[in-house]
Amino acid sequence: MSYECILTETRGDGARKTGLITLNRPKQLNALNDQLMDELGQALLAFDADDSIGCIVLTGSERAFAAGADIPTMAPHTFISAFKSGLISKNWETILQVRKPVIAAVAGFALGGGCELAMMCDFIIAADSAKFGQPEIKLGIIPGAGGTQRLPRAIGKSKAMDMLLTARMMDAAEAERGGLVSRVVPADQLLTDALAAAETINGFSGPSVMLIKELVNLAYQGPLKDGVAVERRYFHALFGTEDQREGMEAFLAKRQPGFQHR
Ligand code: HXC
Repeated sequence: MSYECILTETRGDGARKTGLITLNRPKQLNALNDQLMDELGQALLAFDADDSIGCIVLTGSERAFAAGADIPTMAPHTFISAFKSGLISKNWETILQVRKPVIAAVAGFALGGGCELAMMCDFIIAADSAKFGQPEIKLGIIPGAGGTQRLPRAIGKSKAMDMLLTARMMDAAEAERGGLVSRVVPADQLLTDALAAAETINGFSGPSVMLIKELVNLAYQGPLKDGVAVERRYFHALFGTEDQREGMEAFLAKRQPGFQHR
């Protein structure tokens, strides 16, 4: 598949590989227009359906992960045209259908829709150059892809209100302190470290990986009681897999496990 606004490739030399997606509208700081979001949706679903892929890494350029939704495209809209068309591509939600882990590797600006897209990934590894923000208020609008909902869950009400209401940017160190990102690495190591994290995940049992993703999302979105109940059922279910036998036998035999993802 050839795309115009993103690049896709496969990385890694293990039995399961990593799907790498690079946002690629450098002149516009990877501003997220419909074409880019449609291509991203297709690429994510293609990697998710490919059994040779264990994990996906989503990244941008050194200067910007993404500076937000495309402002020239949004500017002429009225309430009625936005309401009737939906304004943003339906593919803004496609990433939420992906069952394999999606790691955001963020350098430079992750603003507006760019910050919202990073927050839809399963975790964010940030370069020390990363800058996060929800500056929509400066444009006379508000976030439209989950920013007012995911940001307070990620960093708490006070920091989220501060960022959303003042439009200030958060640097990588503050984003790590606040819990928005899982780790900060030197900018020139960002991709190496994100791909290494993906490679580690690729070595584990696919069913365990997918169920952990599903359950953590349940913890994030739903009531505790329901999440714990579903977790117990899935915990039991994994004793029906070959990978559980292999994992535990390998531990007892003091050798490395060879997971078959079944
Ligand atoms: C389209 C954008 C853009 C955007 C930057 N560019 N952001 N184009 N949409 N969101 C373009 C600029 O117009 C410019 O093009 C080029 O990228 C480089 O940007 P500069 O401003 O010259 O760079 P710099 O001075 O370094 O400033 C970088 C910046 C600034 C701080 C990121 O560009 C900026 O504030 N951008 C807007 C950020 C923003 O408001 N994002 C939220 C958008 S609303 P030219 O042709 O002049 O070189 C949103 C709502 C989401 O995301 C709703 C749900 C989807």
